[in-house]
Amino acid sequence: MSITILAIESSCDDTSAAVIRDGYVLSNLIANQDVHKAYGGVVPELASRAHQANIVPVVDQALARAAISTEEIDAVAFTRGPGLLGSLLVGTSFAKGFALARNIPLVEVNHLQAHVMVHFAKEPGHENRIPSFPFLCLLVSGGHTQLIIVRDFLTMELIGNTIDDAAGEAFDKCAKVIGLPYPGGPVIDKLAKEGNPKAFSFAKPRIQGLDFSFSGLKTSFLYSLRDQIKENEKFIDENLNDLCASLQSTIIEILVSKLVRASTETGIKEIGIAGGVSANSGLRGALTAEAVKREWNLFLPEFRYTTDNAAMIGVTGYYKYLRKEFSDQSISPLARFEI
Ligand code: KG4
Ligand code: ZN
Repeated sequence: MSITILAIESSCDDTSAAVIRDGYVLSNLIANQDVHKAYGGVVPELASRAHQANIVPVVDQALARAAISTEEIDAVAFTRGPGLLGSLLVGTSFAKGFALARNIPLVEVNHLQAHVMVHFAKEPGHENRIPSFPFLCLLVSGGHTQLIIVRDFLTMELIGNTIDDAAGEAFDKCAKVIGLPYPGGPVIDKLAKEGNPKAFSFAKPRIQGLDFSFSGLKTSFLYSLRDQIKENEKFIDENLNDLCASLQSTIIEILVSKLVRASTETGIKEIGIAGGVSANSGLRGALTAEAVKREWNLFLPEFRYTTDNAAMIGVTGYYKYLRKEFSDQSISPLARFEI
């Protein structure tokens, strides 16, 4: 018997709905919120209002695109957290209402687990190469930088974490300093393509073990700019591509060196990346080169699955459904939620 899941993601500023059947993605719709662009970051109050406006049309379109009627849905999976509480509340309330109206199970999903689980998303008519266990995943997003061992579907062990900022935050905050729009990661990625990654050097953290730190890099970037601008007020404009390339290559070096270390220490060669920063072309290129050198079996997610999406929620929900891990109607979202 087929299992069809309707999945809802609303943890930050993307409203997304997907339909997953037996682990295959039938549709995955995302409504982005341009309203935050003018503010240089996500405004929580505006995000929850936009989710409220977007959620019904996005779900309608996801069902239509999958050619699935509401009667064919066997369960609703939703992001319980971590994320912005006002945003999570919209998706959670919608999922609860849908499950209640249809009298079907409700499946809560941890957003971080879901980013990793995207590697198990299958698409009809595709080759669907998926990692085998144990699988080592670097999760790099706007809020998290984590090294995770995936021992089985849903069985994850955190072995490294950032002690301050996340990698995406480092991209976004440094981008802001040089006057680039939010989110800065993709803009830096684009500008870095025309720059020299060795033009400038910034402080790299000396953190023991498998943990990360990015706040020192951010400060070093800021101070070095301040010194240069004193000499030449047009410094940023004249060196924009080189600044982006040098900053990006420093972030990549920090990430790749810890991933290499984690692989060496654990002996795991099934390697993947997930989260918004996994869209970064420099990081993807650097890991592809490492994979050849170190005989890794590397998994780079499709671009549409790097940033927040409901397909990853649905795939995770599907495996939870198989284990009958259901929630009841008293469930509420969590702003903080460990993997
Ligand atoms: O996973 P995500 O969509 O949301 C969170 O759960 O945080 O990640 C968003 C982050 C932002 O910091 C954004 O700047 C970063 O991912 N990002 C990138 C790129 N695309 C998105 N960072 C570097 N290069 C990119 N191409
Ligand atoms: Zn995310």
